[in-house]
Amino acid sequence: MKPCLGVCYYPEHWPESFWESDAMRMAEVGIRFVRIGEFAWSRLEPTAGNLQLDWMIRAMDVLGRHGLKVIVGTPTATPPRWMIDKHPDMLAVDREGRSKGFGSRRHYDFSHLGYREEGARITRILAEALGDHPALGGWQTDNEYGCHGTTYSYSSAAQDGFRKWLAERYENIGALNQAWGTVFWSMEYNNFDQIELPNLLVCDAAPAHELDFRRYSSDQVAAFNAVQYEILKARRPDLPVIHNFMSRYSEFDHYKLGETLDIASWDSYPIGHLAGSDETAEHKALYMRQGDPDNAAFHHDLYRSVGHGRMWIMEQQPGPVNWAAANPDPLPGMARLWAWEAFAHGAEVVSYFRWRQAPFAQEQMHAGLVRPDSEPAPAYGEASQVARELAEIGLEGTVSQSRIALIYDYESEWAWEVQPQAAGFKHGNHVRELYSAFRKRGLDVDVLPPSTSSFTGYDIVAIPALLAWTDELRDAVANFDGHVLIGPRTGSKTEHFAIPDRLGPDLPQNLLDAKVARVDSLPAGVEVAVKGGGAARLWREKVEGSAKVVMEDVEGVPVLLSQGKLFYLTASGDKALVQRVADYLIAEADTPTLALPAGVRCRVRGQYRIYVNYGTGTQTLTPAQDEIGYVLGGATIPAAGVSVAQCARAG
Ligand code: GAL
Repeated sequence: MKPCLGVCYYPEHWPESFWESDAMRMAEVGIRFVRIGEFAWSRLEPTAGNLQLDWMIRAMDVLGRHGLKVIVGTPTATPPRWMIDKHPDMLAVDREGRSKGFGSRRHYDFSHLGYREEGARITRILAEALGDHPALGGWQTDNEYGCHGTTYSYSSAAQDGFRKWLAERYENIGALNQAWGTVFWSMEYNNFDQIELPNLLVCDAAPAHELDFRRYSSDQVAAFNAVQYEILKARRPDLPVIHNFMSRYSEFDHYKLGETLDIASWDSYPIGHLAGSDETAEHKALYMRQGDPDNAAFHHDLYRSVGHGRMWIMEQQPGPVNWAAANPDPLPGMARLWAWEAFAHGAEVVSYFRWRQAPFAQEQMHAGLVRPDSEPAPAYGEASQVARELAEIGLEGTVSQSRIALIYDYESEWAWEVQPQAAGFKHGNHVRELYSAFRKRGLDVDVLPPSTSSFTGYDIVAIPALLAWTDELRDAVANFDGHVLIGPRTGSKTEHFAIPDRLGPDLPQNLLDAKVARVDSLPAGVEVAVKGGGAARLWREKVEGSAKVVMEDVEGVPVLLSQGKLFYLTASGDKALVQRVADYLIAEADTPTLALPAGVRCRVRGQYRIYVNYGTGTQTLTPAQDEIGYVLGGATIPAAGVSVAQCARAG
């Protein structure tokens, strides 16, 4: 499929007399896909069993007449009011034991099997009624699973489900007691029916109890999706089922959920995502109108992996949003840049959110491609430009395997939240900091799941801050002949959140003769300088063993160790240290790099290298050896600019 644009549209928000001209203008912009329906349950079924699907069919007719393909969302993120009367206990319960109220969205409990069945019922009805519509191009399940912190519910449905899940996992209560270490503080259970959810306790639950509750909750989200996926695929095996994930959201295992999806999409709002990140105030000020130069890219690469190679942007920020503390206007050109960047990372479709800004309700300050008075907003012209450029350049193919692989693991995110030991130590931050360090050298990166069983073809594999090895992953490292960077904290626990017999990093001596003998965690703001540049912060390990010391801090504590091509980082580094370590590995692996100006990033797709400038000033590109000229833009790249170079080799 040739990459193209889409838009999110809410026909139910507008008089029917608007639909025709809206569709005509979408087609004029060059849009090909329109997502509808994901919040429309109260209009599809105003009261229980009273189905009103005609309006949606008419909307699809209008869109289809203008050559647009429709992605229909199942409306399960917004159960209507009558549903609460029917299933009063379907509302999710927060950690303090309070039931969520009706009046916004995502108020349901993933463990509530009655609601899961309601989701299946409305999905079946939509599949039946719309499955043969000629404009139908695919389905979206629900909307942003887990958004607004809704993965976990501490309800009685969750309690019942959790007990069953534990009984299946451990089979006997002795095995659970052993795995959770319940002898500590006399927490031992006599049977599975005594086990409660890990909330409302006097102090911390056993970390394995918390971790299992997160695993259980994650499985419920995947199960909820699987029900809808099966119904939709049974009706139209040829059409893709998609879900729209989020940025920096890790409450459930997206790889597992991706097993029942054909395409992973995500919702990219770069400016609000930067505002909510752990970046410094200086970094946030520098990129406040562009977003972080690596955050969208990281998620493109992550979701390409979740989607087995297929990735879309279902919602692309078009202008100021409404939900961050401050919502700056993007630099002119960013709505175009973000789309180009997504295509560079393999996106098939970039769909702007939303067509027309709503003049009412919660998101009335959220820009669209057109204003509430239907006049074009700035992103209207930028989207039209992207569509024209795509037609001229004929971007095809997809991205090929990168030289760098990074393991990103949801369970490791949960683990260090459950027991951080150093507040602020996050798996995702370690992964993204390394990601950024490689990207600054012009290197493409693949983000891979911890279930990866072979690294053939990569130069460098990085596995930072991983909770526990699986045998598969340990074998993949042992059998890999490239360079590997692990740590800090990698392999420091078992899957049951206990210290492994061998101690971290829990590798055989022939791979790495190193043992973490002691951990020194540091308060925020304290740094220990590393000789040669950079500093350790948050986390330092004191390691025993014969591995070679490559870098050490000013106190003489080893920071980077090596044995053959395996490297172990003992500390959580600041950006300078992470960059030094990445550069060291790049040099050791002899991986060719590019000299990129500050704020500029690039990625190869097919025969093109696409450059984007996240900076606020014009920069000059140094053409790479394999480039034969620019097909878009040039060596001078303005702020928010895009340049596309054609390469001699296939990417
Ligand atoms: C997304 C969501 C949309 C809309 C949008 C606003 O998180 O899927 O429905 O709320 O944010 O930016």
